[in-house]
Amino acid sequence: MTRILRDADADVTSLQGATVGVFGFGNQGSAQALCLRDAGLDVRVFVRPGGPSGARARAEQFEPSPLEALEACDVVAVLVPDEAQRGVLEGSIGPRVKRGALLVLAHGFAVREEPLAIREDLDVALVGPLGPGTLLRERFLEGRGLPGLFAIVRNATGSAETRALGYAAALGMTRAGLLTTNLEEEVVSDLFAEQVVLVGGVVELIRAAWETLVSGGVAEEIAYYSCVQELKQIMDIVAREGPAGMRGRISGTAKYGGLTRGPRLVGAAAREEMRRILDEIRDGRFAAEWMEERAAGSSRLTGLLRDEAAHPMEEVGHRVREELGGGVAAPRGGVEGGGG
Ligand SMILES: NC(=O)c1ccc[n+]([C@@H]2O[C@H](COP(=O)([O-])OP(=O)(O)OC[C@H]3O[C@@H](n4cnc5c(N)ncnc54)[C@H](OP(=O)(O)O)[C@@H]3O)[C@@H](O)[C@H]2O)c1
Repeated sequence: MTRILRDADADVTSLQGATVGVFGFGNQGSAQALCLRDAGLDVRVFVRPGGPSGARARAEQFEPSPLEALEACDVVAVLVPDEAQRGVLEGSIGPRVKRGALLVLAHGFAVREEPLAIREDLDVALVGPLGPGTLLRERFLEGRGLPGLFAIVRNATGSAETRALGYAAALGMTRAGLLTTNLEEEVVSDLFAEQVVLVGGVVELIRAAWETLVSGGVAEEIAYYSCVQELKQIMDIVAREGPAGMRGRISGTAKYGGLTRGPRLVGAAAREEMRRILDEIRDGRFAAEWMEERAAGSSRLTGLLRDEAAHPMEEVGHRVREELGGGVAAPRGGVEGGGG
């Protein structure tokens, strides 16, 4: 069972006087660098030369440092895309980082899939925010913090946990709570959830449902609103109160229809496919396939993205958002005890 680490478990002074290097100034890099600076740490930002991140960092009053400055950093957060991390960790950063420094990662993909040749004297920790960088920053500014996952990958110095918790505390994450995990669990759960639920299963489900309704004669906009916009409203309740709590806020018709039809869709065949997807993640087949795709220039991914953008549902969605302002009305299932 996981433990939840909070402010009381973290020694916020453990990084006092420390210099923290943030490598990458994208989603997580920019958010984390800003929070760490606001927390009073001496932050250096590292970006690859020639990319757009230099200008983005300067706009936030960070002057990007030359790689040599890594030698002064006690902590280095590697916040570049997962598929680029191996090159960065083994190439640009590895040889230059100060002896005994702590390397922080926000996701364990690169380290779990291909054991990295990271110097033995370095501590390695996973501080994985459970949400995008923009939300991490927003919650930090609100004084609430974003929850996250926490694991020590290597404790070479004996102070990996203290320093990594200090890092998470500086981001405000121990205010919300850190769930302890390990590399395997973090990577498998993250990949499985995104593929099967968050950005795989759910999106495919709404597209198939939209196509079915439209081919059944329902107006495109109404099909879109019903299958896409209302999803957020229901999921907000699920996030607050869980699936069973959500049932208490919808009509009897919606309850009965959902509980009898949902399992027909996610039946034995879908569950069997989920198990296959989990196996592909666990045994490394998914990672190998993705790395091969990257190495070949990501042409399959580019084609899939192009097809998705050209799907007629996208244009309808644009119209619905424009004309109905994104839609925040209560779902017709009868949320808060209403109709349906
Ligand atoms: N997206 C999220 O909010 C989120 C949430 C939880 C965890 N994570 C994890 O956080 C880590 C960072 O993800 P992210 O979404 O923040 O990444 P990202 O926004 O895609 O990262 C972009 C940054 O990485 C740099 N970069 C890209 N390729 C590079 C390369 N080959 N060498 C050096 N620098 C390179 C970019 O520089 P240029 O400007 O030069 O292109 C830019 O500064 C990942 O491990 C991810 O799994 C992300």
